[in-house]
Amino acid sequence: MQAIKGTRDLLPPETALWNRVEQTAQEVFTSYGFGEIRLPIFEATDLFARSIGLETDVVSKEMYTFVDRDETSVSLRPEATASVCRAYIEDGMQQLPQPVKLYTIGPMFRRERPQKGRYRQFYQIDAEVLGGSDAPGIDGELIEMVMTFFERLGLQGVQLEINSIGDKECRPKYVELLRAELRKVKDKLGPDSQRRMETNPLRVLDSKLENEQKLIEGMPHIADHLCEGCAENYLGVKRELELRGVKYGENWRLVRGLDYYSRTTFEITAKGLGSQNAVCGGGRYDGLMELLGGPPTQATGFAIGEDRLILSLQEIGKTPAPPRRDVYIAWMGTRVYATAIRAAKSLRAAGFSVELPPIEQKFGKALGQADKLGARYALILGDNEVSSGEWTVKTLADGTQQKLTEPQLLDFLRKL
Ligand code: HAM
Repeated sequence: MQAIKGTRDLLPPETALWNRVEQTAQEVFTSYGFGEIRLPIFEATDLFARSIGLETDVVSKEMYTFVDRDETSVSLRPEATASVCRAYIEDGMQQLPQPVKLYTIGPMFRRERPQKGRYRQFYQIDAEVLGGSDAPGIDGELIEMVMTFFERLGLQGVQLEINSIGDKECRPKYVELLRAELRKVKDKLGPDSQRRMETNPLRVLDSKLENEQKLIEGMPHIADHLCEGCAENYLGVKRELELRGVKYGENWRLVRGLDYYSRTTFEITAKGLGSQNAVCGGGRYDGLMELLGGPPTQATGFAIGEDRLILSLQEIGKTPAPPRRDVYIAWMGTRVYATAIRAAKSLRAAGFSVELPPIEQKFGKALGQADKLGARYALILGDNEVSSGEWTVKTLADGTQQKLTEPQLLDFLRKL
């Protein structure tokens, strides 16, 4: 049997790095006042269709959707923002002091073509700020938080790009203008762009096709077509980033692949990832809550691709040590086994990592095993040791041995 294409097992010691990344996220996010939300892995298909958009690749091509036994259509979540908004409405979070700041970590599912940094089951570290206002300080602090997190992890080559895609006032007018301009060069565009030009012209700006680049560069920029409110908001966000010492670049083509955004959008890339180099994407989505039947609620957030974050950390040599084993207990004799079990328990309770072989082995073989596992000490327990209460402790790095009572052994290990 094999794992399903695009899914993979995460094994030790790599999982230690995953744990460190998640723990650091929790520490940093907590320091910014975020609390954790845990969400269902599957939801009504309609939730994603309505929020992410029917025409997006994510919804139209990549969702794992099935009909449940009661005939309802359900989907594995391709992202977390829609569920966070559903929960905000369903759990009455508008009654809480605003804004509500939430983060969540877990697997997402998209049926994409697997390659380095792109999987069908992947993991996101997601953060959302819901309610409050559209003050640029909220976006500024959110972006500062993710940059601080990356800095804490020692991620390298981190680059932030920002844009504003306007709101429901000014975007439709820009989209019409863009469509009209694209139609003029229709024959020179590929089939994907020709289709998107009609369904969602903004997505044409995302094209990576070499022969379309020059044409796209000549298209009108949204920054020149923002309404007063959006232009001011965008200026405010840039000022906030400057105040916080966050370096950014502007990319007028950063439109993102999900339909719910308004105003600020941003993406962050990092070193060593090849073509799938976005480690984080996000932005403001002031209209989404209403679209899902909730009260008007301004909101903004981001999701980090944890698989890519880990890949980038590994590329720069941040690989974790194999699981630590402080003590290997080499024991012989049925009478001795009970003492070995008790010793393992008390050493573990004191915080040490202990390996206790489940079957009796000759001391030579047991010491070989201890070496292979990279244990630091071997505790040799035979009849003599149990009768005298003096245990033999061998330091595996240099082969030296000493006799210690149980309290002396604990003292000795604690001093290291
Ligand atoms: P997204 O850009 O679709 O945004 O995904 C965010 C990040 O998830 C990407 O930058 C990438 O690192 C990672 N990612 C996406 N697809 C894959 C994949 N197939 N394999 C590995 N990593 C992947 C969202 O999901 C929005 N919900 C972000 C957001 C939150 N916006 C506002 N709040």
